Amino acid sequence: MDALHPQPKAIEFAAKVIKKGGLVAFPTETVYGLGANALDPAATRKIFEAKHRPADNPLIVHIAQLRQLKTLTKMVPERVQDKLARKLWPGPVTFLLFKSQLVPDVVSGNTDKVAIRMPAHPVALALIRKAGVPIAAPSANTSTRPSPTKATHVLEDLKGRIDVILDGGDAFFGVESTIIDCTSNPYTLLRPGAFTLEELRKQLGGEKIRVPETVRQAKQTKVALVPGMKYRHYAPKKPLYLIKRENLAESPELFQDPQIGVLCSQELYQQHYNGKTPKNVIVLGSEEDLYGVAKNLFDSLRKLDTLNVKFGIIQSFAEKGIGFAIMNRIKKAASPPGTRRN
Ligand code: TXA
Ligand code: MG
Repeated sequence: MDALHPQPKAIEFAAKVIKKGGLVAFPTETVYGLGANALDPAATRKIFEAKHRPADNPLIVHIAQLRQLKTLTKMVPERVQDKLARKLWPGPVTFLLFKSQLVPDVVSGNTDKVAIRMPAHPVALALIRKAGVPIAAPSANTSTRPSPTKATHVLEDLKGRIDVILDGGDAFFGVESTIIDCTSNPYTLLRPGAFTLEELRKQLGGEKIRVPETVRQAKQTKVALVPGMKYRHYAPKKPLYLIKRENLAESPELFQDPQIGVLCSQELYQQHYNGKTPKNVIVLGSEEDLYGVAKNLFDSLRKLDTLNVKFGIIQSFAEKGIGFAIMNRIKKAASPPGTRRN
């Protein structure tokens, strides 16, 4: 389906499935989501089963109109309403707020908070509007796998376990939404994402947004700050090691080793290309266009698994702008140092 012109018949069909308590995978501007009626506990429980997702990892609720925000929350601080939601939605930013009684415990992971966002993708918006209910949706991958940025990724992971996939082509950003906890003072960044922290701070008039050390370092913690932090994420099946850009730049031999899959920038690829085609190199995009790198990242992690190599290495990128989200996902996808498997 054309991403910008959703087909009414397809949307109508998918919306019916949602209303009946079924599961619909749909494109958003960040990654594909796996949606169910957010107000229906039985329907949302199916999401956890289909994804093999731990029950204490709550779901983001997607809305299509600002007035839905009020019904799902206890109260919306003025700052959130006027400086953030009104200006940044629809868009790739999610706010954590105190939930209303409408939100089932299964959606909030038995906490008193709910994460809400209004996606900017025309297909997603049309689906939510037509369904007439907010749609709870995590990324439409199997738990621990890289998030899906194409409908084929959803099929790879969830074929036979969901009712409908709406194919809207490639997701625009390729990394998930930025999540901020608006119940803390100052606000806390829970996940860097497609909307940059620099821009968020600007929107808040320079107001502070706290970035916890665990988020800065993309650590998986035993005690969850965001429930989702406890779990392994985005991992390809092959071991993957993060290597500093400057180190990879000085290691042309890695590009020629048939046992190693290399995920790197266009710049490093060109630097090391010696006339032979290195079969095991996956180019992520240009360092001058990190949005392009973000868009290719999860697909490239999946491609690594199709290469006939023992393991992969991936270069680091500058942690500015969208680079913060890119590096967060890479660190989470990478195996911890010193755990090389064969
Ligand atoms: O871009 C996105 O946000 C995509 C698209 C589909 O909208 N969704 C997405 O959902 O990435 P998911 O479930 O893969 O990641 C949501 C994160 C999880 O780490 C979860 O723990 C956190 O949001 N989260 C959701 N509800 C929460 C809550 N009530 N309290 C704390 N964290 C919450
Ligand atoms: Mg996810």
